[in-house]
Amino acid sequence: MARILTGIQSSGRQHLGNILGAIRPAIALANDPKNEAYLFIADMHSLTTIKDAATRKEHVLATAAAWLACGLDTEKVVFYRQSDIPQVTEMTWYLSCFTPFPMLANAHSFKDKSENLADVNAGLFIYPVLMACDILMYDANVVPVGKDQKQHVEMTRDMARAVNHQLGKEIFVIPEAQISEEVMVIPGTDGRKMSKSYGNVIDIFLPEKQLRKQVMGIVTDSTPMEEPKNPDTCHAFALYSLLASDAQKAQMRQNYLGGNYGYGHAKQALFELILKEFKEERTRFDALMTDPEKIERLLMEGAAKARPVADQVLGRFKMAIGY
Ligand code: ADP
Ligand code: TRP
Repeated sequence: MARILTGIQSSGRQHLGNILGAIRPAIALANDPKNEAYLFIADMHSLTTIKDAATRKEHVLATAAAWLACGLDTEKVVFYRQSDIPQVTEMTWYLSCFTPFPMLANAHSFKDKSENLADVNAGLFIYPVLMACDILMYDANVVPVGKDQKQHVEMTRDMARAVNHQLGKEIFVIPEAQISEEVMVIPGTDGRKMSKSYGNVIDIFLPEKQLRKQVMGIVTDSTPMEEPKNPDTCHAFALYSLLASDAQKAQMRQNYLGGNYGYGHAKQALFELILKEFKEERTRFDALMTDPEKIERLLMEGAAKARPVADQVLGRFKMAIGY
C-alpha cells in the first residue's frame, strides 16, 4: 500500500476549475482503499504571502469546507492543517542546515521573484524546505502535484538522499512525484483558464442568485437568437459539456446548430445543470460554513492521526544528528 500525500494551498473559495481539475481527482485517489492518503491544508506556506490573520483563517475554513463538501471522507483520509503539527517547523530548521544554498536559489518559486529581492521574504526562500518536510515527515511514497510543483518534489528527493547519504542511514523515505500531465483546463467565463486571478470564475457554492449572475456573465458573441450558432467556439457550451451526459450534450449541440436558440437559453440550461450536479455539495458546504466548529473538530481529529507519524520521523532524524 502506497502512502499518498499532498498539500492544498488555502487560497479561499474554490471555483469550478479547482473542483473539476484538482479536488475531484484528488478525492478519487485519496478515497481509493488501495491507497493510504494524507491531505493537508498548507496554511504555513500561505504566510509567505498572506499576513492578515482573519483572511488566512477564512481561507482555511472555506478551503476545508469545499474539500469536505466535495466528498473527502475523513474516515479514509488523514485530513489536517499543516500548522497543527508544528513539528514540521522544527524539522525545517534541521533540514535547512543540510540544504545547499544554491539549490534553494535555483527554485522557480524563488527565482521568478528574485528580480525584486526587496519584496522577497526569507520564508519564500525556505519554502521548498518546509514543503520537503511536509512530505518527508510522513514517510510519503507518492506526491500528486501539478507541473508547477514538480521541481519542489525533485528538490525533496535530493534533500532526502543527501541526508540519508551523509548520515549513513535510511532516515527518509524517497518520495515519487505523480504529475498529472493531461489535467483538463476548465475555461472561465471569458474563455481563458478559469482562475481567481482573472476574475472569471464560477463559484458553485454561491447563493443561487449570485451563481446565476456569474453564469449569465459568460462571454458569447453577438449572433442573433434566430441564427444557428457554433457550439465548438462557445464557452457556455464548453462548460455545459463538462457536466452534461452524452445525450444532453448531443441535444445541446442540436439546439445550437438549429437556430432559434439563444445564448441566454444555453446559459440558463448550464445554470440549472450546475444546481443539479452540485446540489449535495452546495448543501454540505452551507452546513459546514455555518458550523466552523465542526470543520475545526475534523481538522483536529486529522492532526491527532498525523502527529504520531510526524513525531516518529522527527525523532529518527533528531537522534541521528545528536539531539
Ligand atoms: P487559481 O488559478 O484559481 O489561483 P490555484 O492555482 O490555486 O487556482 O489552483 C489550485 C488547484 O486547482 C491546482 O491543482 C490547479 O491545477 C487546479 N486548477 C486551477 N484552475 C484550474 C482550471 N481552470 N482548470 C483545471 N484545474 C485548475
Ligand atoms: N506548495 C504547494 C502548492 O503551492 C502546496 C504544498 C505544500 C504541497 N506542501 C506540500 C504539495 C507538500 C505537495 C506536498 O500547491
